[in-house]
This record gives sequence, structure tokens and C-alpha cells, in this order.
Amino acid sequence: MKFFVDTADVKEIRELNELGLVDGVTTNPSLILKSGGSITEVTKEICGIVDGPVSAEVVATDYAQMMKEADVLSKIADNICIKVPLTLDGLKACKALTSDGRAVNVTLCFSANQALLAAKAGATFISPFIGRVDDIGIDGMELIGEIRTIYDNYDFKTEILAASIRTVNHVKQAAMIGADVGTMPPATLRALVKHPLTDKGLESFLADWAKTGQTIA
Ligand code: G3P
Repeated sequence: MKFFVDTADVKEIRELNELGLVDGVTTNPSLILKSGGSITEVTKEICGIVDGPVSAEVVATDYAQMMKEADVLSKIADNICIKVPLTLDGLKACKALTSDGRAVNVTLCFSANQALLAAKAGATFISPFIGRVDDIGIDGMELIGEIRTIYDNYDFKTEILAASIRTVNHVKQAAMIGADVGTMPPATLRALVKHPLTDKGLESFLADWAKTGQTIA
């Protein structure tokens, strides 16, 4: 499972990338707002930090304008992945952009049929929003399972990018089902390492080591 970090916080991306934890980045208009910077400047900086795909989202809702915005975003860096919404215009843009050799992330996916449409439009990534499905009282993880089954049935190459991940349990479950990528906030990515028995065990090993009076040199 690849790990993408779902943020436009450059400092966080830099730190996590140095830890070797970042395979890519996803941004969206809300995350750009939170960053306080301009979309081109922030995205350019992110693209210079990570080698993997960096999703930058169009904000137009009609095909022609989406394509113009995609051209602007594509010029930022070679590792830009254009993010389009799961609408008819978004799917049309996805088809055109991927036919042109560009990477496309189709976002705001809430149903298996939407994911099927995105795959047929040649999407590089489909982003089902687990947390937001959970929010309305439906199990978001079932959606990941349904998409996995459909994509495997037809050998679609579109990668399932589990998004709107809110907990470490979401990460584990999505990985067990076989999501290709998980995109998560920095805090969730950092939390994956935590286990109280690891902390306790390390504390006890270090205490015993101190009693030996030895050093490793
Ligand atoms: O980037 C899209 C997605 O991950 C948003 O997550 O927590 O705002 O539902 P959330």
C-alpha cells in the first residue's frame, strides 16, 4: 500500500518525506485554504519535495474550463496529478487528460458505480471518501471492498486511493481489503507507528542496558 499525505502543509510534508513515509501527496481546495498560500506556489514547493504524484484539484465545474485549469496545473511540475470531481464533465476531462498521457485523480467518489465510471474514463486514481461515508451512517469500508471487487473483475488498472481517512483503523482495514493507496492527514500517518507495548518494551530494554554500563561503539 502506498502512503500519500493529505495536506498542503509544506513543513509536515518535508518532515514525513525525510522519514521515508511519503509516496505522494493529495491536496484539495480546502487544504490550500488551510495552507494560507497560493495554489501554484504551494503546489510547486510540494512537487519539489516529493518524487511521487502530487494531486492538485481543478475548481471549474465545466469541461472546457477544467481543461484550461488542468493545463495551468500541469505546468507546475512533472509530478502533478490533476484532480477532477466525479461529475460528467469531470469524467470527460479525465478521459481527455489521460488520453494525453497525464495522471488524473478522480475525487469525491461515494459509490461503486461512480468508481466504475472513473475506471472506464481511464482514471489513474479513484478517491473514495471513507470518512465522509461513515459520517452519514454507512460503512465507508464496504465501498472500498466493492470497488476492489469490480476493478479486479475487469482488471481495471485504476488505483484505489482510499481518501478521507480519519483513523489508523481505516488504514488497516483499507490495506486488508487491498486499496492501492491510502491518503491520510499527517497526524494519522505518524500515529501508525504507535503502540503502548513498543514504548514499554523500549523503556525496559534501555533501563536494563544502562545497568550493563556498556556502550556500543
Ligand atoms: O483529500 C480528500 C479527502 O481526503 C478529504 O478528507 O477528512 O476532509 O473528509 P476529509
